[in-house]
Amino acid sequence: MNRSELARIAQAMVVTGKGLLAADESTGTIRKRFEAIKLESTEEHRRAYRELLFTTPGAAEWISGVIFYDETIRQKTADGRPFAQYLTQQGIIPGIKVDLGAKPLAGFAGETITEGLDGLRERLVEYRRLGARFAKWRAVIDIGAGIPTAFAIEANAHALARYAALCQENEIVPIVEPEVLMDGDHSIERCEEVTDATLSCVFKQLQDHRVELEGMVLKPNMVISGKKAAHRASPEAVAQATVRCLKRHVPPAVPGIAFLSGGQSPQEATLHLSLINRLGPLPWSLTFSYGRALQETAISTWGGRSGDFKAGQKEFARRARLNALAATGRYSAEMEQQAA
Ligand code: 13P
Repeated sequence: MNRSELARIAQAMVVTGKGLLAADESTGTIRKRFEAIKLESTEEHRRAYRELLFTTPGAAEWISGVIFYDETIRQKTADGRPFAQYLTQQGIIPGIKVDLGAKPLAGFAGETITEGLDGLRERLVEYRRLGARFAKWRAVIDIGAGIPTAFAIEANAHALARYAALCQENEIVPIVEPEVLMDGDHSIERCEEVTDATLSCVFKQLQDHRVELEGMVLKPNMVISGKKAAHRASPEAVAQATVRCLKRHVPPAVPGIAFLSGGQSPQEATLHLSLINRLGPLPWSLTFSYGRALQETAISTWGGRSGDFKAGQKEFARRARLNALAATGRYSAEMEQQAA
């Protein structure tokens, strides 16, 4: 294993003023996104939509890397260039989601364990050959009555660490994603408590599995009130709680932290990231690895109509640019009113 090469890629993924585009929706998830715009989820529609995102003019100014789904890494632009090769030529690093989803954890009602370790070594070899230089694995921790249990947190942290070690063995930078969900009506304090327990366990497992912290990227949730909470904490409180929690658990050896958006609106996710970055200096680079919050307006503007392809790209560019500003704390809410 070439340790310095892993560290170099990890640093490039979280380089100042850029972030990651999560375009790794599974076939089931992208079907839901297409249903919202009344578009059938055919392979060609999925390809065309990903082409819209990846070929957006100027994308490389704001986007350091893209997370693909298995189908997407095998697809090409309309003029026949493999997406991974196309992005690499633009200076954007291709990555790949390698987990096989969160499945019910036997014996633990309401909790899940992420699957996908069996055969992962062989899949990583193939993905690397297809151009992937980093990977993603998402563990899901739900907050509810009596959950999460310490057992479910540990089982998921253990799987995350086994995945991360396998990635590094195959010269792929692991994005380690323990997502504490914002579904439900819990308070920000409860989210902080569960995120604390989760990150503490994840970093213990990473150390035990001999994962090189310099060659990974953490993808956490922000510490935030549940979507249905009666009183949702202010953006400033979210930024403070998030940074406080990360400082307790994330060693400075980790080069960067790239947040998921998790169901926040695009505006909320951008504002939170900007406020977080104003609390510096911090030992890591803090940026975005958003799915929904980067794509929401682009997909609805496109609507599956080829005539709106460029308009969709314009919306994606605008969101990516605003998030890139937030990654250095230079975004403010008034910018939403300004023309693209
Ligand atoms: P969201 O930003 O939509 O939460 O997606 C990011 C992601 O990759 C979740 O695994």
